[in-house]
Amino acid sequence: MIEHEIVLEPSGTRFRVREDQSIVEAALEQGIAIHHGCGNGSCGDCKGTILEGEITQLPFMPLLLTPEERASGKAILCKAQPRSSLRIAAKIDTAEQWQGRVESLCPLGETVMELIIQCDRPYPYRAGQYARLKIPGETNAWRSYSMANAPREDQRLHFHIRKVPGGKFSEWLFTRAQIGDEIVLSGAQGDFYLRTENERPLLCIAAGTGLAPIEAILEESRKLGWRRSISLYFGVRNRRDLYHLDVLEELRQERSELRFSVSCSDPELLRWSGPRRLLPAVAAEGHWQEHEVYLCGSPGMVEAATDLLLSHGVPHEQIHFDSFSPSA
Ligand SMILES: Cc1cc2nc3c(=O)[nH]c(=O)nc-3n(C[C@H](O)[C@H](O)[C@H](O)COP(=O)(O)OP(=O)(O)OC[C@H]3O[C@@H](n4cnc5c(N)ncnc54)[C@H](O)[C@@H]3O)c2cc1C
Ligand code: FES
Repeated sequence: MIEHEIVLEPSGTRFRVREDQSIVEAALEQGIAIHHGCGNGSCGDCKGTILEGEITQLPFMPLLLTPEERASGKAILCKAQPRSSLRIAAKIDTAEQWQGRVESLCPLGETVMELIIQCDRPYPYRAGQYARLKIPGETNAWRSYSMANAPREDQRLHFHIRKVPGGKFSEWLFTRAQIGDEIVLSGAQGDFYLRTENERPLLCIAAGTGLAPIEAILEESRKLGWRRSISLYFGVRNRRDLYHLDVLEELRQERSELRFSVSCSDPELLRWSGPRRLLPAVAAEGHWQEHEVYLCGSPGMVEAATDLLLSHGVPHEQIHFDSFSPSA
């Protein structure tokens, strides 16, 4: 298989990549931590710029690059394979890690666990971002989880983690994790965080544990003293995945600017007065062009919601999203 030399700017780091490998995958194999998240074209964290050379760009979630970014050479490096030697501008992660301990484990419903980690020192992040947690007992396997609280002085991080059958991290969490267990965290990541530079009302759309970073964003907006209107749509397919309805109700009573809708499409949930489907509920209720939108959940929901909002005239730059794709 043909190999090409890659030079990363501005560090000058060099490594070789086969034509059938992605640039992120080959870099990681050679101990070079190009900044990345999902590894499968859903989050956009590995965005870089091709300064010289040719790549094949494999499919990725369309909204990650605007047409202008594509034209200026931006690429999704976890889905980019080299066709020549390349010079690429890309961020390299520092190897900095945080140590934490499991402070609390609290089931939030049938399939969701709240994990609270006490960090050994301040953990800088913005409300909405996520951390990568090393799977206990594995040598180098990590999973991404969004902080469900805004940064606080007590150095505690809250997470909402859904049980995935056979899942390495979630099975550990649901069956073997104990209070006091040690957890290693990478630095905070992601472009999904509360934008404070404008005064637009907020539209938040969360599917499943996509509610976690949305709760962090709500907490941060309260800390900032915002009174602008917030419309929150929370949806699940299966009634067993419903959680925090009491927390949302409490928030609604405390904050007159907040209104929320919960949808659940589970046919077994017979006495359900709320909407059955998340996105039709969003489409039916509002004109969202003036809103700053925060979307979080499965890649399918995020893609469908983005298409819907764009077709309703919401500008691309007002839509922020995090897609909970499985690890590559
Ligand atoms: C940026 C980001 C933030 C995230 N934040 C959260 C969060 O706050 N809360 C949360 O619960 N999850 C979150 N996730 C998902 C999380 O990172 C893991 O992918 C998930 O918890 C499964 O990990 P696991 O080790 O338990 O399963 P794995 O060992 O990774 O997977 C086991 C099997 O299940 C499949 N699988 C994994 N996930 C799914 C799925 N969703 N649907 C169907 N099959 C699946 C895998 O392909 C594999 O075959 C986030 C993902 C990303 C990229
Ligand atoms: S790491 Fe490339 S898109 Fe997520």
